[in-house]
Amino acid sequence: MISRKLKQKLDNRIKNNSLRLLTDSNGLIDFSSNDYLGFASSKTIFEGAHRLLVKKIRQKNGATGSRLLSGNHKLYVETEKMLADFHNAQEALIFNSGYDANLGFFSAVPQRGDVIFYDELIHASIRDGMHMSNAKSYKFKHNDIENLKFQVERNRNASSDQEIYIVTESVFSMDGDCADLKSLIAFCQKYNCHLIVDEAHATGAFGDYGVGLLQKLGLEDRVFARINTFGKALGCHGAVILGSKDLKTYLVNFCRSFIYTTGLPPHSIATIKMAYEELKCTPEIEKLIENITFFTQELESKHLTSRFIKSNSAIHCCIISGNENVKKIANQIQEKGFDVKPILSPTVPQGKERLRFCLHSYNSKEEISEVLELLATFVRI
Ligand SMILES: Cc1ncc(COP(=O)(O)O)c(C=O)c1O
Repeated sequence: MISRKLKQKLDNRIKNNSLRLLTDSNGLIDFSSNDYLGFASSKTIFEGAHRLLVKKIRQKNGATGSRLLSGNHKLYVETEKMLADFHNAQEALIFNSGYDANLGFFSAVPQRGDVIFYDELIHASIRDGMHMSNAKSYKFKHNDIENLKFQVERNRNASSDQEIYIVTESVFSMDGDCADLKSLIAFCQKYNCHLIVDEAHATGAFGDYGVGLLQKLGLEDRVFARINTFGKALGCHGAVILGSKDLKTYLVNFCRSFIYTTGLPPHSIATIKMAYEELKCTPEIEKLIENITFFTQELESKHLTSRFIKSNSAIHCCIISGNENVKKIANQIQEKGFDVKPILSPTVPQGKERLRFCLHSYNSKEEISEVLELLATFVRI
């Protein structure tokens, strides 16, 4: 039995049509996973990881401990070197997940007396990290530099040794739009702030070989830290924080989500390594970009553009207000064979509930046209 208070919270979820349930993966046409390039089921990566494991590690199922104790197997060392080179960073530090990386970074780096300014649509993992921090945090309006300026001028303490951190995502996970990284960097330079960019949904999808949005724009050396995750376009698991040598040493010493946990097993690290090898030669990025362009053209021709949040990423969202409404349309689309998920409040603000279309290199043009044709019939009613 759970307590009355907990039961009441669940009852509220039921009342608001927002109760979360675990469902089976349904075998429908994929417009919902983050596996943008199809790497999660790549035979090349699967077999390559196995070969690498056998060659380097022989037989080991787990890391056996925290990386500071027994868990720092040699695949970690060479994979972090590869990641730093690939992403043009001084150093790379692998975390067990993007959630752990953000939680650890934001709880460990900003200190008491420092301030963090965050885009109001920032991911839950960053919010949770900030909650655990001794620094104060303030939100600014989504992608609004003027509002950021207002917040910084109002809340900073210019006459102290306060550090100012600003955090954004390069591609926003629930909206699909991009941050204006150039303007943010110019702002940070002017106001002497440290910029942190979560590249979870840009890694593998933007720039040559999927290097990410910062590198595509040639701005990677202008930020304090980058968080790139492997559970999305890389099709595997884990994350990396990219930054300076000192930042890495600091995290290894003070970041609790890095220190107090068992490292990723050798198999996970071998898979990350092989997924990056695949990025260097895959035709899938090109196909993903073609599909994004095609999706946008289809929105135009089916007169749906105004219903969608503007995006040039793999994530496209159609606003349909109300949990009940959006769930109903998602169900109808799923019944026709397409896995399109509703995103409900409170995950997104009330009134901004949406259908989230995740595009992939392996979606066919016909599938894209059909699913949008269906959507058009439902939203026209
Ligand atoms: C922007 C963003 N950051 C971090 C994460 C967390 O990454 P992971 O799934 O590796 O924990 C996610 C995943 O949902 C995300 O969308």
